[in-house]
Amino acid sequence: MKGIILAGGLGSRLKPLTKITNKHLLPIYDKPMIYYPIETLCRAGIKDIMIVTGGNSAGDFLRLLGNGRQFGLKDIAYTYQEGEGGIADALRLCENFADGERTVVVLGDNIVEDDISPYVEEFARQKSGARILLKEVDDPERFGCPELDGDRIVRIEEKPLAPKSRYAVTGIYMYDLRVFGLCHALKPSARGELEITDINNAYIQEGDLHYDVLRGWWTDAGQFESLFRANQLVAASRGLVNV
Ligand code: G1P
Repeated sequence: MKGIILAGGLGSRLKPLTKITNKHLLPIYDKPMIYYPIETLCRAGIKDIMIVTGGNSAGDFLRLLGNGRQFGLKDIAYTYQEGEGGIADALRLCENFADGERTVVVLGDNIVEDDISPYVEEFARQKSGARILLKEVDDPERFGCPELDGDRIVRIEEKPLAPKSRYAVTGIYMYDLRVFGLCHALKPSARGELEITDINNAYIQEGDLHYDVLRGWWTDAGQFESLFRANQLVAASRGLVNV
């Protein structure tokens, strides 16, 4: 199993914080944001990791992370996404890196309390397909949101005006090899991006999308409110402040 961290984009929703640096280098309490997804993968025993960066300050990732020794890694692979083509566009760049193995993909601004090992182990037991992680939230309209029939996901809507459930699809995705074929076949959405939600919906069509619900807290950090919340949650988890 290989790990992929998507840390490109221009972080437009966080300007001016991202005017001269990459969103994933901003601080979350006492560490740069990118440390958290790396630690999420390392805790689950995934040590073969590629970081897709892009936009501003891509070279700073190398200066900050080097060969990943501080995370107990032998090395880190890097690649560069041109422009803002979306999450699935970034994923396309990792096909050679995956080299026939399954992948665990983490969005670089997603911070999660749970150790994801049990979910990764479940995925390893799947014969094929994909596995996503859901979390109940107050504002599902900000995310990919699943429509459920019993305990089956029938469709995922990206940022729906009228959400069909109280769940967000978190930015932690597990895929078999087919993901790269699906990425190549995708057409850009109305916002001009290749959407990860379209990939997940393709797996639903094939009856091969499975999921777990996260137990602990989860947040993204791509907007001022969620960036602030991420800082509070991490600080609170160290027993420093109450949230
Ligand atoms: C992306 C995905 C969305 C997902 C979210 C999780 O949204 O498109 O489906 O719920 O990440 O953080 P974005 O942050 O690009 O708006």
